[in-house]
Amino acid sequence: MSIEVLDKGKFFHLSGPNFSYCIALAKGGYPYHAYFGAKLSNPSPERLVQFMLPPCTPNPDAVDQSYSLDVMSHEYPMQGTSDYRNPAFQIVTGNGGRVLDLLYESHRIIDGKPALEGLPASFASKGDAESLEIVLVDSVSKVKVALLYSIFKDLNVVVRSSRILNTGIDAVLIESALSASIDFDDAEFDFLRLHGTWIRETCRERTPLSHGVQFVESKRGASSNYYNPFMALCRKGSTEETGVVYGFNLVYSGNFIARAEVNHYRFTRAAIGINPYDFSWKLEANEAFQTPEAVLVFSETGLGGMSRSYHDFYRKHLINQAWVNKERPILVNSWEAAYFNVNEELSIQMGKMAKEVGIELFALDDGWFGKRDSDASSLGDWYENKEKFPHGLAYVQEEIAKAGTAFGIWVEPESISPDSDLYRAHPDWIIKVDGRRNSVSRNQYTLDLSKKVVQDFLIETFTRVIRDSKAVYVKWDMNRHMTEIGSIGASADRQKETCHRYMLGVYRLMDTLTKAFPNILFEGCSAGGGRYDPGMLYYMPQFWASDNSDAWERCIIQAGASLVYPASTLSAHVSVVPNHQVGRTTSLETRTAVAIAGVLGYEFNLCNMSSEERALIPIQIDFYKRIRHISREGDLFRLVDPAVQGPFGERSAAWIFVCKDKSEAIFTFVRGICRGNMPPGKIKVQGLDLKANYKIVGTMGAAYSFPTETVPGDELLNEGINLPFHCLMDFSSLVLHLKRV
Ligand code: GLA
Repeated sequence: MSIEVLDKGKFFHLSGPNFSYCIALAKGGYPYHAYFGAKLSNPSPERLVQFMLPPCTPNPDAVDQSYSLDVMSHEYPMQGTSDYRNPAFQIVTGNGGRVLDLLYESHRIIDGKPALEGLPASFASKGDAESLEIVLVDSVSKVKVALLYSIFKDLNVVVRSSRILNTGIDAVLIESALSASIDFDDAEFDFLRLHGTWIRETCRERTPLSHGVQFVESKRGASSNYYNPFMALCRKGSTEETGVVYGFNLVYSGNFIARAEVNHYRFTRAAIGINPYDFSWKLEANEAFQTPEAVLVFSETGLGGMSRSYHDFYRKHLINQAWVNKERPILVNSWEAAYFNVNEELSIQMGKMAKEVGIELFALDDGWFGKRDSDASSLGDWYENKEKFPHGLAYVQEEIAKAGTAFGIWVEPESISPDSDLYRAHPDWIIKVDGRRNSVSRNQYTLDLSKKVVQDFLIETFTRVIRDSKAVYVKWDMNRHMTEIGSIGASADRQKETCHRYMLGVYRLMDTLTKAFPNILFEGCSAGGGRYDPGMLYYMPQFWASDNSDAWERCIIQAGASLVYPASTLSAHVSVVPNHQVGRTTSLETRTAVAIAGVLGYEFNLCNMSSEERALIPIQIDFYKRIRHISREGDLFRLVDPAVQGPFGERSAAWIFVCKDKSEAIFTFVRGICRGNMPPGKIKVQGLDLKANYKIVGTMGAAYSFPTETVPGDELLNEGINLPFHCLMDFSSLVLHLKRV
């Protein structure tokens, strides 16, 4: 990793293990995007900076007629100065002007990675990261923009953000301030996004980039299960393990846009940041606005390489280091076991039963507070329901602790039911436009966390709730997207700040509570994977990836999520069959095979366990405990994509996690739908040591007796693992623990 300043301070070369990122100062100081790609040994501005002034193209300089901003490569494109593509930055100045001319003012190099005020952000100790700040200034409005770039030891990652500072006398209105924008001088890419909805999150879609604008976004007040705040530009022909891929991911949990725009010369502008839709920010003199950060990954080893870079980066530089590699409790959650019908007796029974099969924590989900018998009431009334829990939650905790089981609770701090004492007392505490009716969604409203009074109330309430319950695990849910967006009491010119102020409020709340309870494991959730984004992962080391707990559906959802997020963050539960979401019946073995690809948990009524389940679960948990470090800390290679039909029309999924030192691996195969009379086939693996020999030392399958001979790594990679005949059956699976011998 290094940041070189060349050409008398006019050219910056940021480089990591396999990439170079170059910025030039061109034509009086425009920040020119010179290069982002495979590592260059000797980049030079003469070769990398090029100008053109095609016919019918405006040129900002009457004297120098050699260039136009409209066909130049920019680092932070602005509105109004002859670049017709979508800008990264738009403001309205005091006189209504919308023109900007941002030119270089200064730069500095920082050892390490600065924190961002009020926002979740990557971190690094000195020596592990280097940062470059380039300050631009618009001489008329006196608005300054500080572009921040950070690179990290051993990682093909560039992290970008910008900070807007108003050094003028008049207030300005920011209408858009994205986190990163990059211009490529061709369009030979596919656009890859993760789309979805409730119980169908993180589905991959890859389409050729075409002229015009293609984007994914959220306008819902949360990053959402509809689109993840991520896109990748994949070079034509790049695959899972080959070719060049650029990843863009935003460390933010609110409205975002990830956009690729192809112009008439087939130049591509890729940008990501807070969605300008329904956003503006009034910046008074001497005030600053900080954008969230964007994490840009360069991969020469396809999507797999991109994913492994994201995983390593988030594990080392974003997720709470006290938790990232810590063994998480294997929990059983009450939601699919009882939904709202939880009570003291069931909780104590499940808590005690848990221990018998090796489960370590009982998580009491929704239904324990207020008069919460359905989703129609009580969010906001965070006091124990004494009919269901006559002795209180702490009593449940004490009782199950006697059996050696820990206790956790579900909360949804950001929402409020119209039928709640809190709403009756504070009807103006919700996101709302004065004088208009409010839609309900899941019978609830969103609390207006842009208000400090609401944040303070929630900090106080949840400090009490968590402390009094004696929980050591908290599942933090959020089940409603914003509608009729407004903040009662905020001035008219600040209404469009509501969504971002809300996110800042959420982050303050999470920051305060996670710091107040450093020994509590927080798990994020938002109607399943609705806010499975890096912003949340900064506060919470694991996230409930989907309310869909079917094993086969989860193969697809988890493969999608794994494009960006490491297995150590993905919470996955074994539930009953027929599955509650899709009605499918799969074996306990296959349900567990899929759940152990993340952080294993259970979600069914343990009191109804069959004798077979009682016998198998402890064996499977024991196996999981022996292999979980491999997926938590190792490298993931996706081998077979469950969303793609195989040659016989069948569907299958396969992946392998390999320890960093290649000494151990865990291989998983899951058959989705098979076709009649297929050959069992074989799966070529990845990531193993070609020169070493491996032996299968364990399997999840009780019935499968695996071959005991030693197999050379090169054979496993080039010839593959033979699938046994049982893998010809629908929803069958195979999990193998391999060790180097
Ligand atoms: C959301 C979550 C579920 C469960 C319910 C409780 O849907 O995703 O896991 O906690 O809320 O109401």
